Amino acid sequence: MQLDDLQVIAIQAVRESGEIQKEWLRKDKRIEFKGAINLVTEVDRRCEQRIVEIITKALPEHNILTEETPMPELPSPYRWIIDPLDGTTNYAHGYPCFCTSIALELEGKIVLGAIYDPLLDELFTAQKGKGAFLNGERIAVSATDRLTNALICTGFPYDLRESTVNNLDHFNNLIMEARAIRRDGSAALDLCYVAAGRFDGFWELKLYAWDVAAGKLLVEEAGGRVTDFRGDPLDIYGQQLLASNGRIHEEMIRVLQSGG
Ligand code: IPD
Ligand code: CA
Ligand code: CA
Repeated sequence: MQLDDLQVIAIQAVRESGEIQKEWLRKDKRIEFKGAINLVTEVDRRCEQRIVEIITKALPEHNILTEETPMPELPSPYRWIIDPLDGTTNYAHGYPCFCTSIALELEGKIVLGAIYDPLLDELFTAQKGKGAFLNGERIAVSATDRLTNALICTGFPYDLRESTVNNLDHFNNLIMEARAIRRDGSAALDLCYVAAGRFDGFWELKLYAWDVAAGKLLVEEAGGRVTDFRGDPLDIYGQQLLASNGRIHEEMIRVLQSGG
Protein backbone atom coordinates (compact mmCIF):
# COMPACT_ATOMS: atom_id res chain seq x y z
CA MET A 1 0.00 0.00 0.00
CA GLN A 2 1.24 3.54 -0.86
CA LEU A 3 1.72 6.20 1.80
CA ASP A 4 -1.25 8.14 0.39
CA ASP A 5 -3.52 5.13 1.02
CA LEU A 6 -2.15 4.70 4.53
CA GLN A 7 -2.81 8.39 5.17
CA VAL A 8 -6.45 7.93 4.16
CA ILE A 9 -6.75 5.27 6.87
CA ALA A 10 -5.07 7.51 9.47
CA ILE A 11 -7.40 10.39 8.59
CA GLN A 12 -10.49 8.21 8.83
CA ALA A 13 -9.33 6.98 12.24
CA VAL A 14 -8.62 10.44 13.73
CA ARG A 15 -11.89 11.83 12.38
CA GLU A 16 -13.98 8.97 13.77
CA SER A 17 -12.20 9.31 17.10
CA GLY A 18 -13.00 13.04 17.04
CA GLU A 19 -16.68 12.29 16.47
CA ILE A 20 -16.70 10.07 19.56
CA GLN A 21 -15.02 12.85 21.56
CA LYS A 22 -17.60 15.41 20.46
CA GLU A 23 -20.50 13.07 21.15
CA TRP A 24 -19.33 12.35 24.71
CA LEU A 25 -17.98 15.77 25.72
CA ARG A 26 -21.04 16.89 27.67
CA LYS A 27 -22.15 13.43 28.83
CA ASP A 28 -21.39 11.81 32.16
CA LYS A 29 -18.19 9.83 31.72
CA ARG A 30 -16.55 7.13 33.82
CA ILE A 31 -13.18 8.48 35.00
CA GLU A 32 -10.37 6.32 36.41
CA PHE A 33 -7.00 7.29 37.86
CA LYS A 34 -3.70 6.00 36.42
CA GLY A 35 -1.91 8.08 39.10
CA ALA A 36 -2.81 10.82 41.63
CA ILE A 37 -3.44 13.38 38.84
CA ASN A 38 -3.28 11.16 35.74
CA LEU A 39 -6.78 10.45 34.45
CA VAL A 40 -8.23 8.11 31.87
CA THR A 41 -11.86 8.31 30.79
CA GLU A 42 -14.05 5.77 29.10
CA VAL A 43 -13.85 8.04 26.04
CA ASP A 44 -10.08 7.43 25.76
CA ARG A 45 -10.89 3.72 25.59
CA ARG A 46 -13.83 4.08 23.17
CA CYS A 47 -11.69 6.17 20.80
CA GLU A 48 -8.81 3.71 21.07
CA GLN A 49 -11.06 0.75 20.36
CA ARG A 50 -12.46 2.36 17.20
CA ILE A 51 -9.02 3.46 15.92
CA VAL A 52 -7.51 0.02 16.49
CA GLU A 53 -10.50 -1.57 14.77
CA ILE A 54 -10.03 0.63 11.68
CA ILE A 55 -6.30 -0.02 11.46
CA THR A 56 -6.34 -3.76 12.16
CA LYS A 57 -9.18 -4.33 9.70
CA ALA A 58 -7.22 -2.64 6.90
CA LEU A 59 -3.71 -3.67 7.97
CA PRO A 60 -3.81 -6.75 10.23
CA GLU A 61 -0.06 -7.39 9.82
CA HIS A 62 1.04 -3.94 11.12
CA ASN A 63 2.25 -3.30 14.68
CA ILE A 64 0.35 -0.93 16.94
CA LEU A 65 1.61 1.06 19.92
CA THR A 66 -1.33 2.71 21.63
CA GLU A 67 -1.52 4.45 24.99
CA GLU A 68 -4.17 2.54 26.87
CA THR A 69 -3.73 -1.09 25.72
CA PRO A 70 -0.62 -3.25 25.22
CA MET A 71 -0.67 -4.98 21.81
CA PRO A 72 1.28 -8.05 20.60
CA GLU A 73 4.55 -7.45 18.74
CA LEU A 74 4.30 -8.57 15.09
CA PRO A 75 7.15 -9.10 12.60
CA SER A 76 6.33 -5.98 10.54
CA PRO A 77 8.49 -2.89 9.85
CA TYR A 78 5.37 -0.74 10.28
CA ARG A 79 4.20 0.55 13.65
CA TRP A 80 1.20 2.80 14.21
CA ILE A 81 1.70 5.08 17.23
CA ILE A 82 -1.61 6.24 18.67
CA ASP A 83 -2.78 8.70 21.28
CA PRO A 84 -6.55 8.20 21.16
CA LEU A 85 -7.23 11.29 23.27
CA ASP A 86 -4.43 13.76 23.94
CA GLY A 87 -5.54 16.26 26.54
CA THR A 88 -7.54 13.92 28.76
CA THR A 89 -7.47 16.25 31.76
CA ASN A 90 -8.86 19.05 29.59
CA TYR A 91 -11.47 16.69 28.21
CA ALA A 92 -12.58 15.48 31.62
CA HIS A 93 -13.05 19.09 32.75
CA GLY A 94 -14.79 20.20 29.55
CA TYR A 95 -11.88 22.50 28.64
CA PRO A 96 -11.97 22.62 24.84
CA CYS A 97 -8.41 21.66 23.93
CA PHE A 98 -7.83 18.01 22.97
CA CYS A 99 -7.22 15.87 19.92
CA THR A 100 -6.40 12.46 18.51
CA SER A 101 -2.86 11.82 17.27
CA ILE A 102 -1.79 9.00 14.96
CA ALA A 103 1.64 8.46 13.43
CA LEU A 104 3.09 5.71 11.29
CA GLU A 105 6.65 4.58 11.94
CA LEU A 106 8.46 2.61 9.24
CA GLU A 107 11.79 1.03 10.18
CA GLY A 108 12.25 3.51 13.03
CA LYS A 109 11.31 6.66 11.03
CA ILE A 110 8.01 8.55 11.27
CA VAL A 111 6.63 8.67 7.74
CA LEU A 112 3.17 10.08 8.32
CA GLY A 113 1.16 11.87 10.96
CA ALA A 114 -2.45 12.94 11.42
CA ILE A 115 -3.76 14.99 14.34
CA TYR A 116 -7.38 16.07 14.60
CA ASP A 117 -9.02 18.67 16.84
CA PRO A 118 -12.73 17.92 16.53
CA LEU A 119 -14.01 21.14 18.13
CA LEU A 120 -12.18 23.45 15.73
CA ASP A 121 -12.47 20.85 12.95
CA GLU A 122 -8.72 21.21 12.37
CA LEU A 123 -6.96 18.31 10.70
CA PHE A 124 -3.15 18.50 10.68
CA THR A 125 -1.40 16.08 8.34
CA ALA A 126 2.14 15.41 7.16
CA GLN A 127 4.00 12.87 5.11
CA LYS A 128 7.77 12.64 5.22
CA GLY A 129 9.28 14.92 2.57
CA LYS A 130 5.93 16.27 1.43
CA GLY A 131 5.19 19.20 3.77
CA ALA A 132 2.72 19.84 6.56
CA PHE A 133 -0.93 20.76 6.08
CA LEU A 134 -3.90 22.13 8.00
CA ASN A 135 -7.20 21.13 6.41
CA GLY A 136 -5.34 20.60 3.15
CA GLU A 137 -3.56 23.98 3.14
CA ARG A 138 0.21 24.06 3.50
CA ILE A 139 1.47 25.40 6.85
CA ALA A 140 4.86 26.76 7.94
CA VAL A 141 6.56 27.67 11.20
CA SER A 142 6.79 31.32 12.30
CA ALA A 143 9.55 33.76 11.38
CA THR A 144 10.11 35.01 14.97
CA ASP A 145 13.85 35.16 15.46
CA ARG A 146 14.27 36.27 19.08
CA LEU A 147 13.06 34.55 22.23
CA THR A 148 12.03 37.90 23.69
CA ASN A 149 9.43 38.19 20.90
CA ALA A 150 8.30 34.56 21.11
CA LEU A 151 5.10 32.93 22.33
CA ILE A 152 6.14 29.53 23.61
CA CYS A 153 4.38 26.63 25.26
CA THR A 154 5.09 23.84 27.71
CA GLY A 155 3.51 21.18 29.90
CA PHE A 156 4.26 19.42 33.17
CA PRO A 157 4.65 15.70 33.87
CA TYR A 158 2.11 13.75 35.90
CA ASP A 159 4.81 12.91 38.50
CA LEU A 160 5.55 16.58 39.28
CA ARG A 161 4.60 16.14 42.93
CA GLU A 162 7.02 13.24 43.41
CA SER A 163 9.94 14.19 41.16
CA THR A 164 12.14 17.28 41.17
CA VAL A 165 12.64 16.78 37.41
CA ASN A 166 9.30 18.51 36.98
CA ASN A 167 10.00 21.41 34.59
CA LEU A 168 9.38 24.14 37.16
CA ASP A 169 12.99 25.38 36.89
CA HIS A 170 12.83 25.62 33.09
CA PHE A 171 9.43 27.31 33.32
CA ASN A 172 10.80 29.94 35.71
CA ASN A 173 13.82 30.56 33.50
CA LEU A 174 11.99 30.72 30.18
CA ILE A 175 9.14 32.92 31.39
CA MET A 176 11.72 35.62 32.13
CA GLU A 177 13.05 35.52 28.56
CA ALA A 178 10.07 34.85 26.30
CA ARG A 179 7.21 37.21 25.48
CA ALA A 180 4.75 34.77 27.06
CA ILE A 181 4.23 31.10 27.88
CA ARG A 182 1.08 29.01 27.50
CA ARG A 183 0.26 25.63 29.07
CA ASP A 184 -2.49 24.17 26.90
CA GLY A 185 -2.54 20.55 28.09
CA SER A 186 -2.27 18.73 24.76
CA ALA A 187 1.29 18.08 23.64
CA ALA A 188 0.17 16.88 20.20
CA LEU A 189 -1.75 20.12 19.56
CA ASP A 190 1.13 22.16 21.00
CA LEU A 191 3.36 20.65 18.29
CA CYS A 192 0.74 21.34 15.61
CA TYR A 193 0.64 24.95 16.76
CA VAL A 194 4.42 25.24 16.37
CA ALA A 195 4.04 23.76 12.87
CA ALA A 196 1.30 26.29 12.05
CA GLY A 197 3.30 29.27 13.41
CA ARG A 198 0.90 29.91 16.31
CA PHE A 199 3.60 29.06 18.83
CA ASP A 200 7.25 29.84 18.14
CA GLY A 201 8.49 27.07 20.42
CA PHE A 202 7.45 24.24 22.75
CA TRP A 203 9.34 22.17 25.28
CA GLU A 204 8.35 19.41 27.65
CA LEU A 205 9.81 16.56 29.70
CA LYS A 206 8.75 12.94 30.07
CA LEU A 207 6.38 12.77 27.13
CA TYR A 208 5.64 9.44 25.47
CA ALA A 209 5.99 8.38 21.83
CA TRP A 210 2.21 8.64 21.32
CA ASP A 211 2.25 12.29 22.49
CA VAL A 212 4.98 13.37 20.06
CA ALA A 213 5.39 11.04 17.06
CA ALA A 214 2.93 12.72 14.67
CA GLY A 215 3.64 16.25 15.95
CA LYS A 216 7.40 15.89 15.45
CA LEU A 217 6.86 15.15 11.76
CA LEU A 218 4.41 18.05 11.46
CA VAL A 219 6.95 20.52 12.89
CA GLU A 220 9.80 19.23 10.73
CA GLU A 221 7.70 19.21 7.58
CA ALA A 222 6.61 22.78 8.38
CA GLY A 223 10.28 23.83 8.40
CA GLY A 224 10.90 23.70 12.16
CA ARG A 225 13.36 21.82 14.34
CA VAL A 226 12.74 19.11 16.97
CA THR A 227 15.52 17.92 19.28
CA ASP A 228 16.30 17.13 22.91
CA PHE A 229 17.36 19.95 25.26
CA ARG A 230 20.97 19.79 23.98
CA GLY A 231 20.04 20.08 20.34
CA ASP A 232 20.65 16.39 19.60
CA PRO A 233 18.18 14.50 17.37
CA LEU A 234 14.90 13.73 19.11
CA ASP A 235 14.34 10.18 20.33
CA ILE A 236 10.54 9.88 20.42
CA TYR A 237 11.00 7.27 23.14
CA GLY A 238 13.24 9.66 25.15
CA GLN A 239 12.63 12.12 27.99
CA GLN A 240 13.11 15.61 26.54
CA LEU A 241 11.53 17.42 23.65
CA LEU A 242 12.29 20.87 22.27
CA ALA A 243 10.43 21.98 19.14
CA SER A 244 10.69 25.39 17.54
CA ASN A 245 10.63 27.37 14.35
CA GLY A 246 14.40 26.73 14.24
CA ARG A 247 15.21 30.42 14.58
CA ILE A 248 14.85 30.58 18.38
CA HIS A 249 16.12 27.03 18.97
CA GLU A 250 19.64 27.91 20.11
CA GLU A 251 18.33 30.56 22.51
CA MET A 252 15.91 28.06 24.03
CA ILE A 253 18.70 25.47 24.37
CA ARG A 254 20.84 28.04 26.19
CA VAL A 255 18.08 28.67 28.75
CA LEU A 256 17.22 24.97 29.12
CA GLN A 257 20.89 24.17 29.72
CA SER A 258 20.98 26.70 32.56
CA GLY A 259 18.23 24.75 34.39
CA GLY A 260 18.61 21.70 36.63
C1 IPD B 1 -0.82 14.59 28.19
C2 IPD B 1 -0.91 15.89 27.43
C3 IPD B 1 -0.31 17.02 28.23
C4 IPD B 1 1.09 16.73 28.70
C5 IPD B 1 1.15 15.39 29.41
C6 IPD B 1 0.61 14.29 28.51
P1 IPD B 1 -2.76 12.74 27.84
O1 IPD B 1 -1.36 13.51 27.43
O2 IPD B 1 -0.23 15.80 26.19
O3 IPD B 1 -0.25 18.21 27.49
O4 IPD B 1 1.52 17.76 29.53
O5 IPD B 1 2.48 15.13 29.75
O6 IPD B 1 0.69 13.06 29.15
O7 IPD B 1 -2.48 12.05 29.14
O8 IPD B 1 -3.80 13.77 27.92
O9 IPD B 1 -2.89 11.82 26.68
CA1 CA C 1 -1.03 12.26 25.43
CA1 CA D 1 -4.00 10.10 25.86
